[in-house]
Amino acid sequence: MNIILLGPPGAGKGTQAQRLVEGHGMVQLSTGDMLRETRKADTPLGRQVAAVMDSGALVSDEIVSAMIDERLSGLASDTGVIFDGYPRTEAQARSLDEILAGRGRKLDRVIELEVDEDALVTRITGRYTCASCGKGYHDAFEKPRQDGTCDRCGGHEFKRRPDDNEETVRTRMAEYRAKTAPILPLYEARGIVRRVDGMAPIDTVTASVEAILADV
Ligand code: AP5
Repeated sequence: MNIILLGPPGAGKGTQAQRLVEGHGMVQLSTGDMLRETRKADTPLGRQVAAVMDSGALVSDEIVSAMIDERLSGLASDTGVIFDGYPRTEAQARSLDEILAGRGRKLDRVIELEVDEDALVTRITGRYTCASCGKGYHDAFEKPRQDGTCDRCGGHEFKRRPDDNEETVRTRMAEYRAKTAPILPLYEARGIVRRVDGMAPIDTVTASVEAILADV
């Protein structure tokens, strides 16, 4: 199964993708995570990617589509994939069609997480991850069971993203409205879009996503 999780910054794409990985053994392909790896390197590309991400703008279509193609090339054709944060423009959507067709895969569902943008700023500015294993948490909505200790790996160090400040989040949302939301009609025309109330509690959203996948 190949699915896209679509929604603005903070909609819960990464949260739901992690649960599908844990529950179904699917592979999460997050272009945001890949770009965060790239920016760690002190190279011209790493510095260029860091500057774009910190402004809230989108990295070039060519770079992200090449990353997706490379990651897919390492997967068995029957491995289920969750595209998280990709595609984000019409050009990326067209590239994904070509990449999937070239690998004998087809897109089964596009799941749109519908959210109230004003609430997203709270979500994003409150989130953090385990520095060791990357598990996501939130100051108010998803705390570790034991304060200061990661539920998954027992790590004690946590980190926050540099682009998770209110000003950058507003730019990221504007980019979503201008460039990403307009790709939905492409998928609606194929009858593969399903919508989920992304403002519901995390477990409720997961149950809705599971129901959609059970119906593929
Ligand atoms: P990326 O890393 O993809 O960020 P994003 O799309 O802005 O999405 P987020 O990761 O912020 O949010 P999410 O929907 O995953 O929410 P999460 O589950 O964490 O991209 C970052 C940057 O990289 C971009 O700005 C761009 O520069 C670049 N980039 C990436 N992909 C690109 C591409 N394809 N093309 C070009 N550039 C690209 O949830 C947020 C918080 O809310 C968490 O703390 C979570 O615990 C909590 N939460 C989740 N669901 C709920 C719920 N139902 N109720 C309450 N709390 C919830």
